[in-house]
Amino acid sequence: MRLLAASWPRRPPPWPRRAPPRRGSSGPGRRWLLSTPIFYVNGPPHIGHLYSALLADALHRHRGLRGAGPGRLATGTDEHGLKIQQAAAAAGMPPQEHCAHVSSLFRDLFSQAAISFTDFIRTTEPRHRQAVQHFWAALQGRGLLYKAFYEGWYCTPEECFLSPAQVTERPDARGRPCKVSLESGHQVHWTKEENYMFKLSEFREPLRKWLLGNRHVISPEPFYQVVLQWLEEDLPDLSVSRERSRLQWGIPVPGDSKQTIYVWVDALVNYLTVVGYPDAHHAWWPAAHHVVGKDILKFHAIYWPALLMAVGLDPPEQIYVHSHWTVHGQKMSKSLGNVVDPLACFRQYTVEGFRYFLLRQGVPDRDCDYYEEKVIKLVNSELADALGGLLNRCTSPSINPSGTYPLFSESCFPQVSDHLGVDAVGRAVAEDYELVASVAHLPTQVSHYFERFQIYKALEAIVACVRQTNGFFQRHVPWKLSRDSPAENRWLDTILHVALECLRVYGILLQPVIPATADKLLSRLAVMPAERAFSELTFLPRYRGKPCPFEGRRLGPDTGALFPRLETQRKRQLETKRS
Ligand code: ME8
Ligand code: MG
Repeated sequence: MRLLAASWPRRPPPWPRRAPPRRGSSGPGRRWLLSTPIFYVNGPPHIGHLYSALLADALHRHRGLRGAGPGRLATGTDEHGLKIQQAAAAAGMPPQEHCAHVSSLFRDLFSQAAISFTDFIRTTEPRHRQAVQHFWAALQGRGLLYKAFYEGWYCTPEECFLSPAQVTERPDARGRPCKVSLESGHQVHWTKEENYMFKLSEFREPLRKWLLGNRHVISPEPFYQVVLQWLEEDLPDLSVSRERSRLQWGIPVPGDSKQTIYVWVDALVNYLTVVGYPDAHHAWWPAAHHVVGKDILKFHAIYWPALLMAVGLDPPEQIYVHSHWTVHGQKMSKSLGNVVDPLACFRQYTVEGFRYFLLRQGVPDRDCDYYEEKVIKLVNSELADALGGLLNRCTSPSINPSGTYPLFSESCFPQVSDHLGVDAVGRAVAEDYELVASVAHLPTQVSHYFERFQIYKALEAIVACVRQTNGFFQRHVPWKLSRDSPAENRWLDTILHVALECLRVYGILLQPVIPATADKLLSRLAVMPAERAFSELTFLPRYRGKPCPFEGRRLGPDTGALFPRLETQRKRQLETKRS
């Protein structure tokens, strides 16, 4: 029974298909700008900042491999405002120096973490000052700013005024009553001064219309609902400047030396600065896709679109929102002293191990918890054992003495349209056909999840296939097959060929998440750089009677274990003591 099937034998495994086609957010030949938030330089980076950058980086790399683009990835630092002015004063440094120092910590971290940013913006750069002042003049020119006496609770760590409903009273360290932000718990201060106000209230209906007409503009979906809900409430005008006497560290209001532009207006405009506003942004805008934490959703999903509409620009095309990392179940904070240093994590888990952990375990819809044992367990089981073990098994000289990409035999693994009855012909069994179908479908599935900001699900799907491949290997006990028998030899080579083809797919698909490990894997399989784009991802062509360019090729050099097993710090310390 040899059926001529043009397609894969089994229906692909089910996965969500409910999402309707979107505005082509990253189709071939379309420009797009991916961004991370720009980070405050009041303190060194922590793993939450790294996570935002990693999400954006993985999306950027994934789109590049899909041939979507040209694209840019912008990140940088937010350096003005009261919070930074105070942080610099506390550090006893002039603000410029303080900013330059902390900004370089972010830049260095991102370089070390292999974040593929194309732009790094600092809001203290002259190009940004020009953009912000131009933006301000555009708001003013359209009659959307007015001066008024404003009073309210100001929260410096959040850099915003809070409504009375957002403030509560709590005893401070000495037991005295103290007003704090309900959401962040930070102390707030009553502030009364003359400010410029932006007529935000005029944008409630336009914002609602924009959101209702673009149901996928904010993902994940629960955050879209949150924003719609906010728009049901009152939307007061926004104070967009501070008195210069209180805030010197910022961009002055054009034509009014007594006022400084509000740091959030300053910060949001960075996304325009990087694409050359006010002269050259038209080539990119509004194809902006912002990755942000849920803490700054209101600024990106309400204030920013309203400000853009106000100057006659379109709102961003996409806002990707993620939740927060906690540490042993607790919010990370300087006062608790539990802020996790990403550089220490790189030393302990390697850059690739930690990238993998954050992207595999980070679920944008909900807060996720970090602790050492969790990282070690995950990385060891999935990268060192499952993936590294599989590569090792299929390439070790004992099983693959010729050191080549072995030949596939159609008679051992015949093409069928239905795997029922396959036992009668080749040596492959039903589960083997299931594996082949799963892996053939994997690239589509992975792209689907990436574009929906569910990178963790893409990784979950890849790992499931890796485990299935290990199962395939185990099931056929290839180490017991004899190279002396031509029939067994053919089957052994076929097993290795199929497993290597699976590994090639995993290597290509893992590039956005663990680029160096993927490179090591693909180099071992002798997959050339030009053969690593998604367009080259034709899985197991021999099964469909097509030639396979890898078949018979000499494998790349063995450069040791794909991924080192990690140990807990305690175990490492014990071992150093013993030795
Ligand atoms: O808000 N878990 O900067 P910021 C995950 N400058 N991500 C976290 C996190 C955590 N525990 N803590 C912070 C600002 N983040 C403004 C942004 S944009 C025009 C201006 C990430 O230094 C998350 O992305 O406070 C959050 O939105 C961002 O860092 C806030 O960084
Ligand atoms: Mg913050």
